[in-house]
Amino acid sequence: MIYLDNNATTKVDEEVLNAMLPYLKEEYGNPSSTYSFGKDIKEKVNEARNNVARLLNCNPDNIIFTSCGSESNATAIMNAIKLNPNKKHIITTKVEHASIIETMGYLEREGYEITFLEVDDKGRLDLEELKKEITPDTCLISVMMANNEIGNIYPIKEIAKIAKENNIIMHTDAVQAAGKIKIDVEDLNVDMLSISGHKINVPKGIGILYVRDKKFIPLIFGHQEKNRRGGTENVPYIIGLGKSCEMIINDNYKKSEEEKVLRDYMESEIKKNIEDVFIYGDLDNRTPNTSSIAFKNVKADELMLVLESFGVLVSTGSACNSELAVPSHVLTACHANLEEYSPIRVSLGKYTTKEEIDQFIKTLINVVKMLRSKVK
Ligand SMILES: Cc1ncc(COP(=O)(O)O)c(C=O)c1O
Repeated sequence: MIYLDNNATTKVDEEVLNAMLPYLKEEYGNPSSTYSFGKDIKEKVNEARNNVARLLNCNPDNIIFTSCGSESNATAIMNAIKLNPNKKHIITTKVEHASIIETMGYLEREGYEITFLEVDDKGRLDLEELKKEITPDTCLISVMMANNEIGNIYPIKEIAKIAKENNIIMHTDAVQAAGKIKIDVEDLNVDMLSISGHKINVPKGIGILYVRDKKFIPLIFGHQEKNRRGGTENVPYIIGLGKSCEMIINDNYKKSEEEKVLRDYMESEIKKNIEDVFIYGDLDNRTPNTSSIAFKNVKADELMLVLESFGVLVSTGSACNSELAVPSHVLTACHANLEEYSPIRVSLGKYTTKEEIDQFIKTLINVVKMLRSKVK
């Protein structure tokens, strides 16, 4: 199998798993217990928190462990609106993950006014448009740091500056940015930021929300996480996330650079060998592992299935959308001509090898040729 769907989820790292295992077996104490069997575990949880904080350049007290990126996103949005009960307007974009779009949809039905900012053909935002949409009623701006489908990286520092100048809370969904590009919350000056473990080689079921301000209203009440997120801590997964963050810090994004070299090589070989190829997104400003690539008159869902039969796994959009037979909202927002150019999403990971990419390119050339000859 050649796994090229790392934006959907990633393989658990061996070191991460080994760090977790004792806490799934003998070290099963509750971190809230006062005897040492629990207290030692609390220390380990805080060690993990330190590693997450180091990755994001913040104080460990600003990190709240959650169950996933979606929970972090929902918590951030709900916190912002509860802190501002008199303000009923939120600004976000048309290309956010479903966990943001659907929470906004719920709030819209509850009477909030939501501005979904448009993007251009390359998926880019116009910050002048953003400025125009701000009103005295705006309580939150939530813009993703990196897009899951096309990989675009958004100018979060500039957007947070605009938010600050207007006294508006700023949140960013950094689930697809973590581990791929540097995140420095001090430099970005955001109020809240979400991350998910399973995109960085940790099992599914752990996330974090960075929160700058002491004023915070939880989604789940309880004494854990300094009264900011109730629920007995998911100790093994927290330890795993801490380990993964430590590994990213030690690697200093070398793996990401390697992925970019491999991704760029892949795209250029594909373009050399296949005619009428189109790559979606902001090509000069993308996450290093992502390629949303289309072949004229080849249907992406057909291509994906045939590739799968050859052992190559890619996707046709975000995994969360794939069971719905609707065109991707991200590509639609980019005014994509999906009739002619429907893309597959190829997302590399830290285990992707040059041999796998060469094998993929070879297979792809044959499959596209075969599918095109069927169309004629
Ligand atoms: C950009 C983005 N935000 C949020 C999420 C949700 O994260 P989780 O699967 O941990 O809920 C995803 C997952 O695909 C994502 O890509």
